[in-house]
Amino acid sequence: MGKKVTVVGAGFYGSTTAQRLAEYDIFETVVLTDIIEGKPAGLALDLNQSRPIEGFETKVVGVTTGPNGEGYEAIEGSDVVVVTAGLPRKPGMSRMDLLEVNAKIVRTVAENIAKYAPNAVVIVVSNPVDEMTALAQIATQFPKNRVFGQAGVLDTARFTNSIAETLAVPVKSVKALTLGSHGDTMVPVPSRCTVDGKPLSDLLPADKIEELVVRTRNGGAEVVALLKTGSAYYAPSAAAARMAKAVAEDSGEVLPVCAWVDGEYGINGVYLGVEAEVGAQGIKKVVEEKLTDTELAGLKEAAEAVRAKQADVASL
Ligand code: APR
Repeated sequence: MGKKVTVVGAGFYGSTTAQRLAEYDIFETVVLTDIIEGKPAGLALDLNQSRPIEGFETKVVGVTTGPNGEGYEAIEGSDVVVVTAGLPRKPGMSRMDLLEVNAKIVRTVAENIAKYAPNAVVIVVSNPVDEMTALAQIATQFPKNRVFGQAGVLDTARFTNSIAETLAVPVKSVKALTLGSHGDTMVPVPSRCTVDGKPLSDLLPADKIEELVVRTRNGGAEVVALLKTGSAYYAPSAAAARMAKAVAEDSGEVLPVCAWVDGEYGINGVYLGVEAEVGAQGIKKVVEEKLTDTELAGLKEAAEAVRAKQADVASL
Protein backbone atom coordinates (compact mmCIF):
# COMPACT_ATOMS: atom_id res chain seq x y z
CA MET A 1 0.00 0.00 0.00
CA GLY A 2 1.23 3.45 -0.87
CA LYS A 3 1.48 6.12 1.76
CA LYS A 4 -1.42 8.39 2.56
CA VAL A 5 -1.32 11.84 4.12
CA THR A 6 -4.21 14.07 5.11
CA VAL A 7 -4.14 17.84 5.43
CA VAL A 8 -7.03 19.22 7.48
CA GLY A 9 -7.87 22.80 6.53
CA ALA A 10 -7.69 23.92 2.91
CA GLY A 11 -6.76 27.55 3.55
CA PHE A 12 -3.46 29.08 2.50
CA TYR A 13 -1.36 26.93 4.84
CA GLY A 14 -3.21 23.70 4.13
CA SER A 15 -3.43 24.04 0.37
CA THR A 16 0.26 24.92 -0.04
CA THR A 17 1.18 22.03 2.27
CA ALA A 18 -0.94 19.68 0.12
CA GLN A 19 0.78 21.01 -2.99
CA ARG A 20 4.26 20.43 -1.58
CA LEU A 21 3.35 16.95 -0.35
CA ALA A 22 1.89 16.03 -3.74
CA GLU A 23 4.90 17.40 -5.60
CA TYR A 24 7.27 15.25 -3.51
CA ASP A 25 5.61 12.35 -5.34
CA ILE A 26 6.22 9.95 -2.45
CA PHE A 27 2.57 9.52 -1.40
CA GLU A 28 -0.12 7.55 -3.18
CA THR A 29 -2.78 9.93 -1.88
CA VAL A 30 -2.99 13.39 -0.37
CA VAL A 31 -6.38 14.08 1.21
CA LEU A 32 -7.28 17.74 1.68
CA THR A 33 -10.28 18.59 3.85
CA ASP A 34 -12.14 21.71 4.88
CA ILE A 35 -15.57 22.65 6.17
CA ILE A 36 -16.20 24.93 3.19
CA GLU A 37 -18.38 23.23 0.59
CA GLY A 38 -16.50 22.57 -2.65
CA LYS A 39 -13.24 24.30 -1.72
CA PRO A 40 -11.12 21.20 -1.03
CA ALA A 41 -12.55 19.40 -4.08
CA GLY A 42 -11.82 22.42 -6.27
CA LEU A 43 -8.26 22.73 -4.99
CA ALA A 44 -7.72 18.97 -5.39
CA LEU A 45 -8.91 19.07 -8.99
CA ASP A 46 -6.66 22.04 -9.69
CA LEU A 47 -3.65 20.29 -8.10
CA ASN A 48 -4.35 17.06 -10.01
CA GLN A 49 -4.44 19.01 -13.26
CA SER A 50 -0.92 20.26 -12.51
CA ARG A 51 0.39 16.65 -12.42
CA PRO A 52 1.24 16.31 -16.12
CA ILE A 53 3.16 19.59 -16.02
CA GLU A 54 4.97 19.08 -12.72
CA GLY A 55 5.38 15.37 -13.34
CA PHE A 56 4.01 13.72 -10.22
CA GLU A 57 1.56 10.84 -9.81
CA THR A 58 0.25 11.46 -6.29
CA LYS A 59 -3.53 11.75 -6.35
CA VAL A 60 -5.07 14.62 -4.41
CA VAL A 61 -8.56 14.05 -3.00
CA GLY A 62 -10.58 17.00 -1.70
CA VAL A 63 -13.31 16.43 0.87
CA THR A 64 -15.72 18.75 2.66
CA THR A 65 -16.38 17.63 6.22
CA GLY A 66 -19.56 18.28 8.19
CA PRO A 67 -20.23 19.31 11.78
CA ASN A 68 -20.89 15.70 12.86
CA GLY A 69 -17.78 14.25 11.25
CA GLU A 70 -19.41 13.66 7.87
CA GLY A 71 -16.76 13.06 5.22
CA TYR A 72 -14.03 12.01 7.65
CA GLU A 73 -14.12 8.42 6.31
CA ALA A 74 -11.86 9.80 3.57
CA ILE A 75 -8.95 10.11 6.02
CA GLU A 76 -9.05 6.40 6.98
CA GLY A 77 -5.65 4.73 6.72
CA SER A 78 -3.69 8.00 6.76
CA ASP A 79 -0.10 7.53 7.89
CA VAL A 80 0.16 11.22 8.74
CA VAL A 81 -2.40 13.98 9.35
CA VAL A 82 -1.36 17.63 9.27
CA VAL A 83 -3.79 19.89 11.14
CA THR A 84 -3.92 23.41 9.68
CA ALA A 85 -7.57 24.15 10.52
CA GLY A 86 -8.15 27.38 12.39
CA LEU A 87 -8.04 31.13 12.08
CA PRO A 88 -4.82 32.95 11.24
CA ARG A 89 -3.92 36.17 13.04
CA LYS A 90 -4.57 39.70 11.86
CA PRO A 91 -2.06 42.56 12.16
CA GLY A 92 -1.49 43.43 15.81
CA MET A 93 -2.76 40.07 17.11
CA SER A 94 -0.53 37.64 18.97
CA ARG A 95 -0.84 33.91 18.28
CA MET A 96 -2.25 33.59 21.80
CA ASP A 97 -5.28 35.72 20.80
CA LEU A 98 -6.38 32.74 18.68
CA LEU A 99 -6.38 30.34 21.62
CA GLU A 100 -10.09 29.96 22.34
CA VAL A 101 -11.45 29.98 18.82
CA ASN A 102 -8.83 27.62 17.46
CA ALA A 103 -9.09 25.30 20.47
CA LYS A 104 -12.70 24.54 19.56
CA ILE A 105 -11.72 23.79 15.98
CA VAL A 106 -8.66 21.70 16.83
CA ARG A 107 -10.53 19.67 19.45
CA THR A 108 -13.23 18.59 16.96
CA VAL A 109 -10.68 17.86 14.28
CA ALA A 110 -8.58 15.80 16.71
CA GLU A 111 -11.58 13.78 17.87
CA ASN A 112 -12.38 12.91 14.27
CA ILE A 113 -8.77 11.94 13.59
CA ALA A 114 -8.86 9.61 16.60
CA LYS A 115 -12.03 8.03 15.29
CA TYR A 116 -11.15 7.66 11.62
CA ALA A 117 -7.34 7.44 11.54
CA PRO A 118 -6.43 5.94 14.92
CA ASN A 119 -2.94 4.93 13.82
CA ALA A 120 -1.92 8.22 12.25
CA VAL A 121 0.92 10.47 13.32
CA VAL A 122 -0.51 13.96 13.88
CA ILE A 123 1.40 17.12 13.05
CA VAL A 124 -0.26 20.27 14.38
CA VAL A 125 0.40 23.70 12.89
CA SER A 126 -2.71 25.66 13.96
CA ASN A 127 -1.81 28.49 16.32
CA PRO A 128 -0.95 28.99 19.11
CA VAL A 129 0.86 25.82 18.14
CA ASP A 130 2.40 24.78 21.46
CA GLU A 131 -1.05 24.81 23.06
CA MET A 132 -2.89 23.33 20.06
CA THR A 133 -0.42 20.43 19.98
CA ALA A 134 -1.06 19.71 23.66
CA LEU A 135 -4.80 19.91 23.02
CA ALA A 136 -4.64 17.58 20.01
CA GLN A 137 -2.85 14.99 22.16
CA ILE A 138 -5.48 15.29 24.88
CA ALA A 139 -8.37 15.08 22.42
CA THR A 140 -6.96 12.15 20.41
CA GLN A 141 -5.57 10.34 23.46
CA PHE A 142 -2.78 9.19 21.12
CA PRO A 143 0.59 8.32 22.63
CA LYS A 144 2.54 11.57 23.03
CA ASN A 145 5.19 10.56 20.50
CA ARG A 146 2.50 10.39 17.80
CA VAL A 147 1.39 14.01 18.23
CA PHE A 148 3.80 16.87 17.67
CA GLY A 149 3.80 20.41 16.36
CA GLN A 150 5.47 22.53 13.72
CA ALA A 151 7.37 25.61 14.77
CA GLY A 152 11.11 25.03 15.03
CA VAL A 153 11.67 24.06 11.41
CA LEU A 154 10.01 27.32 10.35
CA ASP A 155 11.61 29.56 12.98
CA THR A 156 15.01 28.04 12.20
CA ALA A 157 14.47 28.70 8.49
CA ARG A 158 13.60 32.33 9.25
CA PHE A 159 16.72 32.69 11.40
CA THR A 160 18.83 31.02 8.70
CA ASN A 161 17.46 33.29 5.99
CA SER A 162 18.20 36.43 8.03
CA ILE A 163 21.74 35.30 8.79
CA ALA A 164 22.36 34.45 5.12
CA GLU A 165 21.00 37.81 3.96
CA THR A 166 22.99 39.75 6.56
CA LEU A 167 26.27 38.06 5.65
CA ALA A 168 25.43 37.79 1.93
CA VAL A 169 26.16 34.05 1.88
CA PRO A 170 24.11 31.17 0.42
CA VAL A 171 21.46 29.82 2.79
CA LYS A 172 23.10 26.42 2.55
CA SER A 173 26.26 27.78 4.22
CA VAL A 174 24.25 28.58 7.33
CA LYS A 175 23.35 26.19 10.14
CA ALA A 176 21.00 27.72 12.71
CA LEU A 177 18.64 26.57 15.42
CA THR A 178 15.64 27.81 17.39
CA LEU A 179 14.04 26.10 20.35
CA GLY A 180 11.39 27.03 22.93
CA SER A 181 7.92 28.24 22.09
CA HIS A 182 6.52 29.52 18.79
CA GLY A 183 5.93 32.92 20.34
CA ASP A 184 7.38 35.41 22.75
CA THR A 185 9.49 32.80 24.52
CA MET A 186 11.08 31.48 21.34
CA VAL A 187 14.73 30.65 21.97
CA PRO A 188 16.95 31.20 18.94
CA VAL A 189 20.24 29.45 19.77
CA PRO A 190 23.20 31.49 18.47
CA SER A 191 25.69 29.07 20.08
CA ARG A 192 24.50 26.46 17.57
CA CYS A 193 24.73 28.77 14.55
CA THR A 194 27.57 28.44 12.10
CA VAL A 195 28.42 29.79 8.67
CA ASP A 196 30.55 27.40 6.62
CA GLY A 197 31.44 25.78 9.93
CA LYS A 198 32.54 29.04 11.60
CA PRO A 199 30.73 30.14 14.76
CA LEU A 200 28.31 32.99 14.11
CA SER A 201 29.86 34.89 17.03
CA ASP A 202 33.15 35.08 15.06
CA LEU A 203 31.36 36.74 12.15
CA LEU A 204 28.90 39.17 13.72
CA PRO A 205 29.03 41.38 16.83
CA ALA A 206 26.74 40.42 19.72
CA ASP A 207 24.33 43.33 19.15
CA LYS A 208 23.84 42.34 15.50
CA ILE A 209 23.18 38.72 16.51
CA GLU A 210 20.64 39.96 19.05
CA GLU A 211 18.95 41.97 16.29
CA LEU A 212 18.61 38.80 14.19
CA VAL A 213 17.30 36.89 17.20
CA VAL A 214 14.60 39.52 17.77
CA ARG A 215 13.70 39.53 14.08
CA THR A 216 13.36 35.74 14.15
CA ARG A 217 11.08 35.89 17.16
CA ASN A 218 8.91 38.43 15.30
CA GLY A 219 9.26 36.68 11.94
CA GLY A 220 5.61 35.68 11.68
CA ALA A 221 4.32 39.08 12.81
CA GLU A 222 6.51 40.82 10.22
CA VAL A 223 4.76 38.87 7.45
CA VAL A 224 1.30 39.39 8.97
CA ALA A 225 1.89 43.17 9.13
CA LEU A 226 2.79 43.27 5.44
CA LEU A 227 0.00 40.97 4.22
CA LYS A 228 -2.69 42.80 6.24
CA THR A 229 -4.98 39.78 5.87
CA GLY A 230 -3.85 36.28 6.75
CA SER A 231 -0.49 34.99 7.88
CA ALA A 232 2.58 33.40 6.33
CA TYR A 233 2.22 30.13 4.47
CA TYR A 234 5.07 29.47 2.02
CA ALA A 235 7.76 28.87 4.64
CA PRO A 236 5.30 27.35 7.13
CA SER A 237 3.99 24.84 4.58
CA ALA A 238 7.54 23.96 3.54
CA ALA A 239 8.26 23.18 7.20
CA ALA A 240 5.14 21.09 7.78
CA ALA A 241 5.56 19.16 4.54
CA ARG A 242 9.19 18.33 5.41
CA MET A 243 8.07 16.96 8.76
CA ALA A 244 5.34 14.83 7.18
CA LYS A 245 7.94 13.54 4.69
CA ALA A 246 10.29 12.56 7.54
CA VAL A 247 7.43 10.55 9.08
CA ALA A 248 6.41 8.91 5.79
CA GLU A 249 9.98 7.95 4.98
CA ASP A 250 10.80 6.99 8.58
CA SER A 251 13.91 9.07 8.06
CA GLY A 252 14.97 9.48 11.68
CA GLU A 253 16.29 12.95 10.86
CA VAL A 254 16.76 15.38 13.70
CA LEU A 255 14.43 18.35 13.37
CA PRO A 256 13.46 21.13 15.78
CA VAL A 257 9.80 20.39 16.59
CA CYS A 258 7.23 20.93 19.30
CA ALA A 259 7.53 17.60 21.13
CA TRP A 260 6.58 16.17 24.48
CA VAL A 261 9.50 16.82 26.82
CA ASP A 262 9.75 14.76 29.96
CA GLY A 263 13.12 14.89 31.66
CA GLU A 264 15.31 16.35 28.94
CA TYR A 265 17.04 19.61 29.92
CA GLY A 266 15.59 19.04 33.41
CA ILE A 267 12.15 19.98 32.02
CA ASN A 268 9.19 17.75 32.80
CA GLY A 269 5.80 17.12 31.22
CA VAL A 270 5.28 19.82 28.60
CA TYR A 271 5.06 20.24 24.82
CA LEU A 272 8.03 22.40 23.86
CA GLY A 273 10.26 23.23 20.90
CA VAL A 274 13.27 20.91 21.05
CA GLU A 275 15.30 18.85 18.62
CA ALA A 276 14.00 15.35 18.02
CA GLU A 277 14.47 12.37 15.73
CA VAL A 278 11.38 12.08 13.54
CA GLY A 279 10.21 8.80 12.06
CA ALA A 280 7.25 6.55 11.27
CA GLN A 281 5.93 6.68 14.84
CA GLY A 282 6.39 10.44 15.11
CA ILE A 283 8.98 11.37 17.70
CA LYS A 284 11.58 8.65 18.08
CA LYS A 285 13.64 10.51 20.62
CA VAL A 286 14.14 14.02 21.95
CA VAL A 287 17.76 14.97 21.38
CA GLU A 288 19.38 16.95 24.14
CA GLU A 289 22.33 19.09 23.09
CA LYS A 290 24.61 21.42 24.99
CA LEU A 291 23.27 24.96 25.42
CA THR A 292 24.80 28.01 27.04
CA ASP A 293 23.47 28.94 30.48
CA THR A 294 21.46 31.81 29.00
CA GLU A 295 19.93 29.60 26.30
CA LEU A 296 19.04 26.91 28.83
CA ALA A 297 17.46 29.51 31.10
CA GLY A 298 15.46 30.75 28.07
CA LEU A 299 14.27 27.22 27.32
CA LYS A 300 13.17 26.71 30.92
CA GLU A 301 11.35 30.03 30.88
CA ALA A 302 9.58 28.99 27.65
CA ALA A 303 8.61 25.67 29.25
CA GLU A 304 6.97 27.41 32.20
CA ALA A 305 5.16 29.90 29.94
CA VAL A 306 3.65 27.22 27.71
CA ARG A 307 2.99 24.85 30.61
CA ALA A 308 0.55 27.30 32.16
CA LYS A 309 -1.34 27.77 28.88
CA GLN A 310 -1.28 24.07 28.06
CA ALA A 311 -3.02 23.37 31.35
CA ASP A 312 -5.73 25.87 30.35
CA VAL A 313 -6.48 24.24 26.96
CA ALA A 314 -7.57 20.98 28.55
CA SER A 315 -10.79 22.72 29.53
CA LEU A 316 -11.37 24.49 26.20
N1 APR B 1 -12.16 21.59 9.90
C1 APR B 1 -11.48 21.80 8.75
N2 APR B 1 -11.13 23.04 8.34
C2 APR B 1 -11.51 24.08 9.07
C3 APR B 1 -12.24 23.94 10.27
C4 APR B 1 -12.57 22.63 10.67
N3 APR B 1 -13.26 22.39 11.78
N4 APR B 1 -12.46 25.17 10.77
C5 APR B 1 -11.90 26.06 9.92
N5 APR B 1 -11.31 25.40 8.89
C6 APR B 1 -10.63 25.94 7.74
C7 APR B 1 -11.22 27.24 7.20
O1 APR B 1 -12.43 27.00 6.50
C8 APR B 1 -10.10 27.73 6.31
O2 APR B 1 -10.23 27.29 4.97
O3 APR B 1 -9.28 26.29 8.04
C9 APR B 1 -8.84 27.11 6.95
C10 APR B 1 -7.87 28.14 7.49
O4 APR B 1 -7.32 28.77 6.39
P1 APR B 1 -6.81 30.29 6.38
O5 APR B 1 -7.85 31.17 6.97
O6 APR B 1 -6.31 30.57 5.01
O7 APR B 1 -5.60 30.27 7.43
P2 APR B 1 -4.10 29.71 7.15
O8 APR B 1 -3.22 30.80 6.74
O9 APR B 1 -4.20 28.49 6.33
O10 APR B 1 -3.67 29.33 8.65
C11 APR B 1 -4.20 28.21 9.31
O11 APR B 1 -2.19 27.91 10.61
O12 APR B 1 -0.31 29.27 10.86
C12 APR B 1 -1.53 28.86 11.40
O13 APR B 1 -2.17 30.81 12.64
C13 APR B 1 -2.48 30.03 11.51
O14 APR B 1 -4.05 28.93 12.92
C14 APR B 1 -3.79 29.33 11.59
C15 APR B 1 -3.59 28.10 10.70
